[in-house]
Amino acid sequence: MASIGVLFVCLGNICRSPAAEAMFAELIARRGLGARIHADSCATASFHAGKAPDPRAVAAAGRLGYRIAPRLARQITDADFRHFRYLVAMDRNNLRTLQGWAPPDFAGEIELLTRYCADAAGQDVADPFYGSAEAFDDTLALIERGVGALLEQLCRRHRL
Ligand code: 4NP
Repeated sequence: MASIGVLFVCLGNICRSPAAEAMFAELIARRGLGARIHADSCATASFHAGKAPDPRAVAAAGRLGYRIAPRLARQITDADFRHFRYLVAMDRNNLRTLQGWAPPDFAGEIELLTRYCADAAGQDVADPFYGSAEAFDDTLALIERGVGALLEQLCRRHRL
């Protein structure tokens, strides 16, 4: 059976979406679903392309017990709309960008991360870039809830 692709998307691909990818990948591994679901992350903007994850995001993920592996930020491409079935935006600005960018024949789902989370539905995962370490902790705690809820939904929908 084909692996289900999930792409997490934020503005810069150095804070929120790499954290979401790392946490989601950890949950997939713990559930033994590595052959059924794959995940990646990217930016809507190009200005941090080629940069490493923000050390503040790496530290906040570490405090929650997750490791953001070394990786380089990249901007979304047209090919991503073919390779990924679920495009998961961190906030409404990025959601709108994805909706505008999607080719007319895109058959997947473009949704806010918190839409999968009954008690946080519709909330933005706020951009922590100009915030404190505490803001990063709050941001990553919301992401952790969101990716957990997303995985539950995928398991139900796809009977995993
Ligand atoms: P991200 O965070 O979208 O979660 O990677 C940001 C990174 C950089 C900027 C904004 C958000 N920036 O304005 O440079």
